[in-house]
Amino acid sequence: MNNQDLNSKSLNRRFPPGFLWGTATASYQIEGAVKADGRGPSIWDTYSHTPGAVWNGDTGDVACDHYHRVDEDLDLLAELGVGAYRFSVAWPRIQPTGKGPANQVGLDFYRRLVDGLRSRNIEPTLTLYHWDLPQQLEDEGGWCVRDTAERFAEYVDLVARSLGSDVERWITLNEPWCSSWVGYGIGRHAPGIQDIGMAAAANHHLLLAHGMALPILRAAVPSAKVGITLNLGDHQPGSEHELDVAAARRADGNLNRLFLEPVFHGQYPQDMLAHYATSKPGFSVVQDGDLELISQPLDFLGVNYYFPSTVVDASRAKEARVAGYRVALTEQFPDLHLRSLETPGRDRTAMDWEIEASGLTTLLVRIRDEYTTVPIYITENGAAFDDYVDPNGHVLDFNRVAYLQEHISAVHDAIDAGVNVQGYFVWSLLDNFEWSYGYSRRFGIVWVDFPSGTRLTKESFRWYRDTIQSNTVEYATSIGST
Ligand code: FCB
Repeated sequence: MNNQDLNSKSLNRRFPPGFLWGTATASYQIEGAVKADGRGPSIWDTYSHTPGAVWNGDTGDVACDHYHRVDEDLDLLAELGVGAYRFSVAWPRIQPTGKGPANQVGLDFYRRLVDGLRSRNIEPTLTLYHWDLPQQLEDEGGWCVRDTAERFAEYVDLVARSLGSDVERWITLNEPWCSSWVGYGIGRHAPGIQDIGMAAAANHHLLLAHGMALPILRAAVPSAKVGITLNLGDHQPGSEHELDVAAARRADGNLNRLFLEPVFHGQYPQDMLAHYATSKPGFSVVQDGDLELISQPLDFLGVNYYFPSTVVDASRAKEARVAGYRVALTEQFPDLHLRSLETPGRDRTAMDWEIEASGLTTLLVRIRDEYTTVPIYITENGAAFDDYVDPNGHVLDFNRVAYLQEHISAVHDAIDAGVNVQGYFVWSLLDNFEWSYGYSRRFGIVWVDFPSGTRLTKESFRWYRDTIQSNTVEYATSIGST
């Protein structure tokens, strides 16, 4: 064995036996068939059909037509060799108006998916809510009203009793921060409302829905492993100046602590309660007993991580420019009084998100230190790039391979540091409807030709298949590191 072989061997990092490899998708982003078999409209149907809301006027009407191509997609998963597949159930397929008895044909679709997974030895990981709220419930107040949490609990009961122990892992909510703060705060997601007080109320009612669903899931499926998926980030201050440190803390409060604190510590962070005290209805909707429900024990935490963030206080934009940063001109939440910085030298994805995998390690270590030691699954991680099919008919997405390698290596760093990470899911199996970006951003390890629906595996698919097979990843530092 020559030196080079030795070096590359020592750089191969093995994951613990049983580490769970998977990919993730979400119902509205891939299923299409929005009117099939009694499905009712969701807030994303309404929003995507609102002129100007989504890039190019794109909608999820057809998407990847997964609803009709489910067997083909199951075969792709088998070819990839994943141990688990994370998908979401479209609430309006099960209850077209968000209440009342189950639409059996809707349940049948997910039964077929779950059976198809099991017959291929792939563990179903089911997200109960990935943003497609039945429109009827939005018309009655959506996540700003308490009633929606109660409706959610009823819906969960229907799904849990139907699919039961055939589903390995249950995720109550996907990224409640996006549902509340992007949907009701800045209006860049459905239902497209811009009201900070409503966003804060939605924040609470989503977590309440999670809390109400837990005993129902546990009763219906005693063997169920239950968790929640949060999109979390690592916010660094642009300098050590106390104003910048405080700005990073506010950003952290809004994105991370407003969710981690109630779920794991049974309380909302005091600084955030004070910050939103004048936004009505805001957190005044919290009732006695809610936080006990929200903080019931979980079997795992799902973490979605995409990019790090560096911020300064809004008053210190000039100093940040002098220090060499590019400074965002506007901010999505003016009330937080901060400015996001672009770190010089860092690469970015087609979403314009900075690439810095070490942020994931930092985040995971912090979750363990400050919040919980329950098993963690990375339930989403991945990147959009400007992929294309080359003249030879290949999609050679080496930039995505590099991104995945760096981030999987960062997960390994966290495991080395003693964090209990038990699995990793690539976002996403398929190119799909990327919310307000429509079909302009491709996250898949499988190329989808819209709208013919033809699938073509990318280079990253082959790379991930090999990674899964060997249960190792080559050591990598972030290409974006400075
Ligand atoms: C996450 C969403 C997922 C996908 C990725 C890119 O916020 O959960 O549906 O859009 O971002």
